[in-house]
Order: sequence, then C-alpha cells, then structure tokens
Amino acid sequence: METLSLAPFQGITDVVYRNVFKKHFCGIDKFYTPFFTGIQKDNSKSLRGEEISPEFNDVKTVVPQILSNTAEEIVRFASQCKSMGYPEFNLNMGCPFPRVANKTRGCGLMADPNRTIKMLSDVFDGIDGIKFSIKCRLGYYNDEEINAFIETFNSLPFSEIIVHPRIGKQMYTGEASLERFKALIPLINKPLVYNGDIFDVEKYNIVKKSSQSVALGRGLLTNPFLAEEIKDIDNQQDKKQRLHNFVVDLYINRLHHAGGSPKIIGSMKELWKYMMNIFDDPQNVWRKVKKVNHLDEYENAVEKVFNEHNLII
Ligand SMILES: Cc1cc2nc3c(=O)[nH]c(=O)nc-3n(C[C@H](O)[C@H](O)[C@H](O)COP(=O)(O)O)c2cc1C
Repeated sequence: METLSLAPFQGITDVVYRNVFKKHFCGIDKFYTPFFTGIQKDNSKSLRGEEISPEFNDVKTVVPQILSNTAEEIVRFASQCKSMGYPEFNLNMGCPFPRVANKTRGCGLMADPNRTIKMLSDVFDGIDGIKFSIKCRLGYYNDEEINAFIETFNSLPFSEIIVHPRIGKQMYTGEASLERFKALIPLINKPLVYNGDIFDVEKYNIVKKSSQSVALGRGLLTNPFLAEEIKDIDNQQDKKQRLHNFVVDLYINRLHHAGGSPKIIGSMKELWKYMMNIFDDPQNVWRKVKKVNHLDEYENAVEKVFNEHNLII
C-alpha cells in the first residue's frame, strides 16, 4: 500500500492548515511539521504552543521536524517529542536558503559530512524509544555529496530517509532527478521516501514504479485534491464548493488562531500563489488576491475568485 505524506512548508502547513486540510480532504497518511529551531532548554518555550501540543495534533500521524546542527539540541528536541507521545521526529537536512545553509544547518549539513556523520551518530547515542528520520537533498554544492552519507544511512537505525533529489544550490529551480533517486535505492537499506515535483497523478504514477512512499509538496498545496486523486477516491462532485469551504474554513481558523490579526493575510496569500494554478486564468486570480491588505478586501477577493473563475482540475 502506498504511503502519502505532506512535506513541510514553513509559513504555510502549520497546525491550522494541517487540521483544516484533514477536515476537508483525505488521502494524506502523515504530516511533517515545518521545522522548529531554538530548543535551548528542556521544556523549551518553542515546544509549548499549539503547533506541537498533542491537544491539537494527532501524534500518530504528525512528525515534528527540527532544524539544528548540534546533537545536544536534537536529542533535547527528541526527548520532548517523545514525552508528548510522538513516535517519530525528523531532522531537516534539506533547507537550501543561504542564511541557513551557510551556518551548516539544513542542506548545509550535507556539505560537511565528517561533522554531520558524527552528529547523527551522537544523536542515536542520546535518544531512546523514538524513531529518527531525516529529510535531505542530494547535496548542497553538488549531487555527489550524498555518497559520503550512504554508509551512515545504512549503519545507523534511521526509520526513513526522505530524499528531495535536487542540490541545495538549485533551490527550487530545474527538475528533481528521479534517475538519481532510483540510483540510491539499491545502495540504501532504509525505507526511502521520494519528494519533488509531483503535481499530478501522471507524475505520481511514474514515481510510484520506484517508490511506494512519497511526500507531496507544492503539488498538494496547489491542488488539495491531489492525494484523493492519487488514491482513486471518488471526488468529482462539488469540487469547487469543497475548495471554497476549505479556503473559508482555513481563513476563519487562522484568524481565530491569530486573535483576529490581519497578518494572516500573508499566509493565505502564500497558499494562493500555489492554489491559483488550479483555476482558469491563474494570473487574474492572483491579481485579485495579491493586492489586498485588509480582511474585508481579502474576503471580497476570495468571493470574486469563486464567482468569476472555474477550476481546471
Ligand atoms: C516556502 C517553502 C517552505 C518550506 N519549508 C520547509 C520546512 O520547513 N522543512 C522542510 O523540510 N522542507 C521545507 N520546504 C521544502 C518542501 O517541503 C519540499 O521538500 C519541496 O518543496 C520539494 O517538494 P515539491 O517539489 O513536491 O514541492 C519548503 C519549501 C518552500 C517552497
């Protein structure tokens, strides 16, 4: 049976998105949180909010992610995740932004294999009773960097390895290389999860020939029906109405969560940058949403989008 997960997006797939998504759509088996940072203490303040609290998250299907470059901080994170009941946590080894990678964090970890391998090994020495997975790219500067990690991926008990087969320097340009992912399969003895550029069922079916486990990213943000389509769940009825309900519910929940602050318009716009592509005339949809600054303007723009445009999916 295929496993579909949702890759994390800082600023978009927060607890509100994850819960509202689950209320309106099916097909996603597992959700990774956007990364946490700054776990300086036990009972860290950044781990006390709704974003990770078991009261608001289904610990069985949510995997908290950390961005860090020290075993000490990662172990501290793991032990707090464990005490909240999470069976698994994930380390971000893929974030390509220079201000992250230049500090040997995210994808920058891949450019410093000696230090990173020692860190990963120290993490396993420090954790107990919680699964440890990673999300990485092929490398930061070049696509051979991952080779230095293969022995470690095989010898340490990672629960899974998500590979987004690009290099960090590419950011999100070019194409994710399914060929390079395929070449890793016989070399790594851990469950591999493919992530990258799956925007439709056709592409998913090509990837599925090599990987049963897939993390969907921008494809699902763009088309929230994608997991249902992949799993052949009958969803042809009322798609526009369902999407409308989802968008409104997400907005209301975000607003509630943020105490009514119009700042949430920013995160709604981030999502619309992707979602506009399932409407006819996407640029026109984007123009309507992009220019709004106030809550009432946003609400009017959304109503206009749904009144004046049709879905092309
Ligand atoms: C705005 C943005 C925020 C992201 N935040 C995270 C994050 O917090 N953690 C992470 O592992 N990946 C993050 N990613 C990467 C995505 O999870 C995913 O790996 C990437 O988009 C490639 O998959 P896709 O082609 O299916 O979108 C982010 C990507 C974008 C564009």
